[in-house]
Amino acid sequence: MSVNLRKVAVVGCGFVGSASAFALMQSGLFTEMVLLDVVQEKAEGEAMDIMHGTALMNPMRIYAGTYDDIADAAVIVVTAGAAQKPGETRLDLIHKNISILGSIMAEIRKRSCQGIMLVVSNPVDILTYYAAKTSGMPENRVFGSGTVLDTARLRTLLGTKLDVDSRSIHAVIVGEHGDSEIVCWSNANVSGVPLADFFALRGMGDQDLTAAEKEIGDDVKNSAYQIIQKKRATYYGIAMSVRRICSAIVKDEKSVLPVSTVMHGAYGISDCALSTPAIVGRNGVEGLVPVTMSEKEREELLSSAKVLKQNMEGIDF
Ligand code: NAD
Ligand code: LAC
Repeated sequence: MSVNLRKVAVVGCGFVGSASAFALMQSGLFTEMVLLDVVQEKAEGEAMDIMHGTALMNPMRIYAGTYDDIADAAVIVVTAGAAQKPGETRLDLIHKNISILGSIMAEIRKRSCQGIMLVVSNPVDILTYYAAKTSGMPENRVFGSGTVLDTARLRTLLGTKLDVDSRSIHAVIVGEHGDSEIVCWSNANVSGVPLADFFALRGMGDQDLTAAEKEIGDDVKNSAYQIIQKKRATYYGIAMSVRRICSAIVKDEKSVLPVSTVMHGAYGISDCALSTPAIVGRNGVEGLVPVTMSEKEREELLSSAKVLKQNMEGIDF
């Protein structure tokens, strides 16, 4: 079946699925959107609600569908599954969500899906690896939202601290989308100006930079825990991340984004999926971009891979 470049599917219409669908409706990237949920009424209700906005936005067909409807979608966004309760880690969701993803992959496998699968459900790195191994789709076309969201959080907080447009901040988070993630401080800059120099420009010194690295790194890592504690779930930040990744795919932007991909030896890591900067375009992940890291950051990346692999033990891929 050939792919319809103007069609997107969202599997799972909870907080994240519906917010992503709403962001995608507003993006103008697609003319058709199919929503799926194990609770059919949920998909139907979200489709109706979001569709009513199209009269005020872009013409678009939005409906609750079946797996047959998603087979020719350019992007299949998977957000189905249990979410963290206050105090739970993403890794705590693994068994519940592997089982849910298993039933979804069984449906995908039966159909010849030619588009791209974007995994969002948590723990996203392990579920991405699982989807890549079990969907029957080529590896370059199955990847996870990874640390795109964490990197957006980092750039937002740094932009606020430095009173500069966060889009001018070049900084990336690699590794697990979760507690073992790593901020690559060693190569962070503001439009080519090293962070230390930009701190100086704003009247701050090396001590302020060291304190900011600790404080902002911790805040990014704890964002989801804080938001879940306050409002049960996170969904707007990830919805914008989904929209950004879909734009890179549909417009063949070849953007460098820290998505989660199956590793085959880069940075000394294989047999798991995690985030490192990758080129994303119409064919999915078109290659990894080797980011310069300090020795310490490299070691932390290896430890992050180890955490993921330990949590994958006993899972049948
Ligand atoms: P939610 O409970 O609101 O929604 C989950 C939805 O999945 C529900 O509507 C449920 O009916 C549906 N579902 C369950 N099993 C299904 C199946 N087999 N097929 C189709 N639909 C099914 O949860 P949420 O807040 O929307 O979170 C969804 C997932 O996204 C969680 O795993 C959460 O941790 C994850 N998440 C990831 C990121 C990220 O950055 N990767 C960010 C936020 C949330
Ligand atoms: C996030 C989810 C919970 O907002 O993974 O980071």
